[in-house]
Amino acid sequence: MSEKQHKAEHRNRPTGEAFMAFMREGWAPRGSDLPELTQAARYAADRRRAVSTAFPGERLVIPAGGLKIRSNDTDYVFRPHSAFAHLTGLGADREPDAVLVLDPLPSGEGHEATLFFLPLADRDSEEFFADSRSGEFWVGSRPTLASAAAELGLATRHLSELPDAVAKDVGPSNLALRVVRDADREVAATVDRVREQSGLGAQGEVEALEEADLELTRSLSTMRMVKDAWEVEQMQEAVDATAVAFDAVLENLPEAVRRGRGERWVEGVFGLHARHTGNGVGYDSICAAGDHATTLHWIRNTGEIHEGELLLLDAGVETDALYTADVTRTVPVSGRFTEPQRRVYEAVLEAQEAGLAAVRPGNRFKDVHAAAIEVIARHLLEWGLLPDDVTLEQTLDAEQGQFHRRWMVHGTSHHLGIDVHDCAQALREDYVDAELREGMVLTVEPGLYFKADDLLVPEELRGIGVRIEDDVVVTADGMRNLSAMLPRTVPEVEAWVQAGGRRD
Ligand code: GLY
Ligand code: MN
Ligand code: MN
Repeated sequence: MSEKQHKAEHRNRPTGEAFMAFMREGWAPRGSDLPELTQAARYAADRRRAVSTAFPGERLVIPAGGLKIRSNDTDYVFRPHSAFAHLTGLGADREPDAVLVLDPLPSGEGHEATLFFLPLADRDSEEFFADSRSGEFWVGSRPTLASAAAELGLATRHLSELPDAVAKDVGPSNLALRVVRDADREVAATVDRVREQSGLGAQGEVEALEEADLELTRSLSTMRMVKDAWEVEQMQEAVDATAVAFDAVLENLPEAVRRGRGERWVEGVFGLHARHTGNGVGYDSICAAGDHATTLHWIRNTGEIHEGELLLLDAGVETDALYTADVTRTVPVSGRFTEPQRRVYEAVLEAQEAGLAAVRPGNRFKDVHAAAIEVIARHLLEWGLLPDDVTLEQTLDAEQGQFHRRWMVHGTSHHLGIDVHDCAQALREDYVDAELREGMVLTVEPGLYFKADDLLVPEELRGIGVRIEDDVVVTADGMRNLSAMLPRTVPEVEAWVQAGGRRD
């Protein structure tokens, strides 16, 4: 459920009966055309079938979540829970407080999907003009039960019917119930009440039930790992839009330097494109010049951009269907790498090449990191930065060393999709230890970060941070780099900056 807003006591809206009657009349009839079933919904139906197979005979409750207050009576833009988006095909802004329920069919095989949500209110309701969160006057027209059913290809019911629908036939020797708890605390509380009233959850069973819920959440997260054809298209769309936004940033780089607070200018230019082409940025853009590039998640973006520095831009456009790119390029602001900058850049690039080469079915997810980090460690060793007498084997050993991680503390890869760090609830055995499979989308993003105050590195390297990040899809015999259109080698990147973001 949506968080409760503060009431603004000072407001003075008319409530008189004559006014109410006046508001009800004089509107043209609403159109009755129904939308077509969306492509997203077709694929979502297949995904629901996979969930149905994994949890036969159980009622599954998957909430979208509610509106979150930004301040007082102002909310953040709504974003549905990722499991809900994945299983309905609903994307940006849709639908606050909605809940998808998968109900086992009496035959014991398969589930019926029903979307419970707050449909468009009639014009004779107060909600129509007076409710600032759901009223048509305030947030625009919203779907009716019939239009959502046509668009999504599932049954639809009013949200007020949810508690009874969740409770029906639940009991210790009857129907089992699971909920994605983290999506909506109030819906989880409804499920808890239903369990209690049906004699479930007594005598220390609560933990077991919550573990069962977690198993559903984990399972839905893990199921998102292999993307279907439509999702891969979405990812490519996100990356294509991201590439154009990167070009625009480079075109604006001289202006960012000239204006001061250039990191914010870069954030704004990228964000403009992201919001225009897609739903927005998939995560807060990291716009980091100079030493800021050594802060892994530098999202304050308050800094200047100076000639001679590197600019690390880690940013991604999210499509309206909520699939996000996650790309990093590190560029010399003046169009030429200095010698130390270039040395670091080339090392990271070599590590990335090794990581990319390890992306293929049969290899494990963690092999990608192992391949990239070995290159990083070797360079650090050659540069004399590791403790005396430490060999490559020793530093790479999980128990003995890992000294090189001082300069690349993060992992090389993560799954990418509706969440920037996608499938994050999956167990280790299903994630880092698992084999790569065709259709998985992941990042390959090694880096090296030498902080300005790191006395263990030579002065010429201090304040240099480099990350190179691409998004790849695993194919039958290797991988396809979705972001291959963006310059990556030293000469390519230099030419790109010098051309003001034009790519040949
Ligand atoms: N943008 C965060 C990351 O690369 O994982
Ligand atoms: Mn990134
Ligand atoms: Mn990433």
